[in-house]
Amino acid sequence: MDSFVIEGGTVLRGEVEVSGSKNAVLPIMAATLLTRETCVIHHVPDLSDVRFMCRILQSLGAVVTMEGGTLTVRAENITGTGDYDLIRKMRGSICILGPLVGRLRKASVSLPGGCVIGTRPIDLHLKGLSALGTAMRIEGGYVHAEAPGLRGTTVFMGGRSGPTVLGTANVVMASVLAEGVTVIESAACEPEVVDLCDFLNAMGARIHGAGSPTITVTGVPALAGVEHRVIPDRIEAGTFAVAAVASGGEVTLRGARPDHLGAVLEKLREAGARVERRNGALTVGAGSTLRPLELTTMPYSGFPTDMQAQFMALLCLANGTSIVTERIFESRFMHAAELLRLGADIGIEGPSAIIKGGRPLSGAEVMASDLRASAALVIAGMAAQGRTQVHRVYHLDRGYERMELKLSRLGARIERTQGE
Ligand code: EPZ
Repeated sequence: MDSFVIEGGTVLRGEVEVSGSKNAVLPIMAATLLTRETCVIHHVPDLSDVRFMCRILQSLGAVVTMEGGTLTVRAENITGTGDYDLIRKMRGSICILGPLVGRLRKASVSLPGGCVIGTRPIDLHLKGLSALGTAMRIEGGYVHAEAPGLRGTTVFMGGRSGPTVLGTANVVMASVLAEGVTVIESAACEPEVVDLCDFLNAMGARIHGAGSPTITVTGVPALAGVEHRVIPDRIEAGTFAVAAVASGGEVTLRGARPDHLGAVLEKLREAGARVERRNGALTVGAGSTLRPLELTTMPYSGFPTDMQAQFMALLCLANGTSIVTERIFESRFMHAAELLRLGADIGIEGPSAIIKGGRPLSGAEVMASDLRASAALVIAGMAAQGRTQVHRVYHLDRGYERMELKLSRLGARIERTQGE
């Protein structure tokens, strides 16, 4: 397993190209199952999760090729049963359930595993699909779904932590070929859901209200192949912005969508960072001081849970006490224990982390536990004095395209070592 070796204390300066969005491209790849025709998707990030989803589509019978950031998928003859092991290993693969039900009216998909950040239930996915007339049976670790008559309906998709992103995606993708009109109430409003709906509408679907809590889908008989460019990854952009501020430097995020980063940029300003939008690019840099703050993760357009760990690393450097409250996932503070090994002072009290910042961090060996926690450890390691080794960076490779190369080009002293 690979590790990163980081020599801390470098200031990040320069420009970085923001890659395509992982959380947009995964459901869009699933949506290609809804047509027999060829789909061409541009600006696809080279991530292990994307390569995994390619294998899942191939296991269903689709022909998939990836050439330099452009993905071509033709799902002409597909089956409704995916490879158990493949699907079980990547939570995001649950989003093939909706399109398989929509296209074939029949699917067997392995239940996604939980992960370190929470149990990751799919009760809302099942609620939405059964409201459309899908009979669901859970047996042997699979969800077996049959929907002889898929009919539009109104369904409330809000859960105890608010809307569900992939649950909304699944219900939208099952309803685009259903009879009649489907109204999804308490739908997720994330930009990745909007990008999926843009993709589906380009295929000939009739979806209104994407980006709002109420999405209306009018079923159509069939969908066509389409060409599409994936939106930039707002979490990658936010991660590099936080890294720039933590290092005391300044980075221009080429291709970022500031309109997708409202809450993140607002919190960076509140912490004392400089945020400028210059000729179409977004530049974020350290200010004269780094201030502590309070933040709570919320559904979009609130502060994103996927930026919580990165901000915790930043707040370890602020002079004073900060409070970070995680309201989306039940255990998303795994990075706190590892940050303590770098000299941070963090106490967990229920859903909140109390960060007493201001003490300099010093390098240590740390262990990555999940995708965004790993990013937090890299940010902290670059700001720490001395050497930090981040082990198990395969977590990072799931969601960040060649992170160490992008950071090196900004001046970081970071290299990947091949593990045992
Ligand atoms: C998506 O996961 C993202 N993943 C996550 O990003 C992101 O953190 C999450 O949305 C929230 O924004 C992808 O898009 C591939 P949810 P998703 O359903 O859709 C509960 C990353 O780091 N819930 O919106 O699986 C759930 O337990 C990843 O890139 C139910 O209770 O998340 C959680 O508490 C991590 N029942 C909350 O809702 C359900 O049926 C939000 O989960 C479904 C979810």
